[in-house]
Amino acid sequence: MALICIGCTLIAALPTNIALFRTRTKLGFLLALFNTSLAFFLFSFQEKTKVKESVLCKKCICNFDTSLLDCSEKLGQWLSAEEWEILINGDLTFKTIKLEHNNLTSISILPKYSVENLYLAYNQITDIADGAFQNLTEMTTLDLSHNKLTAKALRPDVFKGPYTVHNFKALEKMKALNLGNNEIHSLDADLFEHIPNLEELILCSNTFQVIDKLTETAISGLNSLKTLDISYLEIEDLPETVLHGPRDLDDLIASGNLFRQLPKALKYAKNLERLVLDENPIESLEGNNVFPPMANLRYLRMSYMPNLFKIGNGALSELQNLTELVLSDNKVLNEIDERALSKNVTGGRYLDYPPLEHVYLNNCNLTTLPTALIVRWDKLTLDLRFNPWSCDSSNDYLINVLIQQINKTNPLLAKDVQCATPIELKDVTVLRVSNEHLAAGSSGSLIWVGLLVVLLIAIPTILGAYVMKRRGCFGLFNRNENGASRALYNRTSINEDFHI
Ligand SMILES: *[C@@H]1O[C@H](CO)[C@@H](O)[C@H](O)[C@H]1NC(C)=O
Ligand SMILES: *[C@@H]1O[C@H](CO)[C@@H](O)[C@H](O)[C@H]1NC(C)=O
Ligand SMILES: *[C@@H]1O[C@H](CO)[C@@H](O)[C@H](O)[C@H]1NC(C)=O
Ligand SMILES: *[C@@H]1O[C@H](CO)[C@@H](O)[C@H](O)[C@H]1NC(C)=O
Ligand SMILES: *[C@@H]1O[C@H](CO)[C@@H](O)[C@H](O)[C@H]1NC(C)=O
Ligand SMILES: *[C@@H]1O[C@H](CO)[C@@H](O)[C@H](O)[C@H]1NC(C)=O
Repeated sequence: MALICIGCTLIAALPTNIALFRTRTKLGFLLALFNTSLAFFLFSFQEKTKVKESVLCKKCICNFDTSLLDCSEKLGQWLSAEEWEILINGDLTFKTIKLEHNNLTSISILPKYSVENLYLAYNQITDIADGAFQNLTEMTTLDLSHNKLTAKALRPDVFKGPYTVHNFKALEKMKALNLGNNEIHSLDADLFEHIPNLEELILCSNTFQVIDKLTETAISGLNSLKTLDISYLEIEDLPETVLHGPRDLDDLIASGNLFRQLPKALKYAKNLERLVLDENPIESLEGNNVFPPMANLRYLRMSYMPNLFKIGNGALSELQNLTELVLSDNKVLNEIDERALSKNVTGGRYLDYPPLEHVYLNNCNLTTLPTALIVRWDKLTLDLRFNPWSCDSSNDYLINVLIQQINKTNPLLAKDVQCATPIELKDVTVLRVSNEHLAAGSSGSLIWVGLLVVLLIAIPTILGAYVMKRRGCFGLFNRNENGASRALYNRTSINEDFHI
C-alpha cells in the first residue's frame, strides 16, 4: 500500500522535479533521471491504486457493477485527502458518488475526478466555494437537496467551470440540478450562466412564496430545460412568461402550491407532455379557468385537490392528446360536466375526444358519470372505486354497461365500486346491482324496460335451450338458466322494494 502511494506521489511530482533539476548541476540531472526511472519502474509495476482493496471500499459501499461509491452516513465529513488520492489514482472511476447524511456544512473546490453523478443531499450545507465543481467537468447530475442553502449561497460563480486561456468554460455536461428542500426564496438572475445546458431543475420545497423577476429571468433562460419541479414553493401563481424560454419543457410538476386558478403561464408551455398539479386549492375548472390548448399534453394529474368540486364544460377540451387523466382523491369533486373533455372542432354533428387510455376517478365524491364524457369507454382502464355512486336510473350507463366492462377487463377495479344511494342499496357493489338488473328507489322506467328486454330474451332462450341438445350448447344453457333464475327468484334484501 505504502509503495503504491509513494509511486503515485512521485509521478505526480515528476514534472516539477524535472523542471527544477534541469537548471541545476549534472548531479542534479542524474538524480532527476534516477527519480524518473524509479517512478517509471514503480509505475510499470503498480500503475494504479486497486480501488477494490482500498480502505475506502472498506469504509464505504463500493458497487462496481453500477460504478457507485456510496459513503452516505459513513464519513461525517468530506473525503480526506488520502481518500481522494485513492479515487484519483484508482484503477477505476466511480461514475456515481454519494455523500449523503454526512453533516457536511460547506463545499470547497473539489479535486479533478470524472464523476458523473454527485449526491450531496441530506447534509447541512450552507456555503459553496466559487468554482467548487470546476474540476468535475464530466458531471451531469448534482443533488444538493435537503441542505440549508439560501439565495445568498447560490451565486452564479458557484457553478463556474474550468478556466481555459482567458475565459471560464461552462460546465457543459451538467444536465440535472436538484436544489429541493433548502431555504431558497429567490434565484440569482444569472445563476445558471455556467450551466446553460440544464435539462432538469428541481426547486421543490423552498419558501419562495413568489417567483420574483430575478427567479423568472433565471428559469426562463434555461432553453434546454425538459423537467421543472416547482412543487411546494408556497406560490399563488406563476409569472405569465416564465415558461416562454424553456420551449422544450416536457414535464412540469407544480404540486402543493397555492394556485386558486390555473396559472396563465401554461399557455406558453406548448410542448408540455406531462403536468402535475396535485394539492392546489383550485375550486372549479370552468369559464375562464380552463386549460389552454396544450396539444402535446399526454398526462395530467390533479389529485388531492382539497377544494376542487367541479370540472366544467370545456375544462379539458383543449387537451386533445391526453392519454392519461388522474383525478383521484379529490374528496369534494362532485361534478364532471359531460362536455369537460370533448371539443367541437368541425362545428358539425361530431365532437372530438382525446385518445384516453387511463382515467382515475377513484376516491372522489362522484355520484353519476355522464355517458357523453368519453366516447371510447371500451378503450379505457377506468378506476371508479370509492365514490358514493347513485344506483338509480341517473346512472344507467355505469350500471348497465360500464361496470360489466370493467369487471371483464380489470375485475379488481370493479370490486369497490359501490352504491351510496338509494339508501336500500348502500354499500352494495354496482356490479351486483348490474347483475340483478335492478335499481331500486326510482320510478326507473328505463330499468323496467331493460328488465323486460332481458326477460323477453331470456325466456325464449331458456325454452330454446331446453329443446336443444344439452351437449351441444351446454355452456350457454347453464349460463342462461343461472342468470334468469337469479333475476327472477333469487331475491335478497336489496330488492325488497321491487314492487310489481
Ligand atoms: C451527524 O451529526 C449527528 C448529530 O451530531 C450525529 O448523530 C451523526 O452520527 C452524524 N453523522 C455522521 C455520519 O457522522
Ligand atoms: C482544481 O481546479 C483548480 C482550479 O482550476 C486547480 O487549481 C486545482 O489544481 C484543481 N485540482 C485538482 C486536484 O485537479
Ligand atoms: C400527440 O401525441 C403523439 C405521441 O403520443 C404525437 O406524435 C403527436 O404529434 C401529438 N399530437 C399533437 C397534435 O401534438
Ligand atoms: C358530496 O356531494 C354531495 C352532493 O352529491 C354533497 O351533499 C356532499 O356534501 C359532498 N361531500 C363532500 C365531502 O363534499
Ligand atoms: C358544434 O357547433 C356547431 C356550431 O356552433 C353546432 O351547430 C353543432 O351542433 C355542434 N356540435 C355538437 C355535437 O354539439
Ligand atoms: C366478473 O367477470 C368474470 C369474468 O370475467 C365473471 O366470472 C364474474 O362472475 C364477474 N363477476 C360478477 C360479480 O359479475
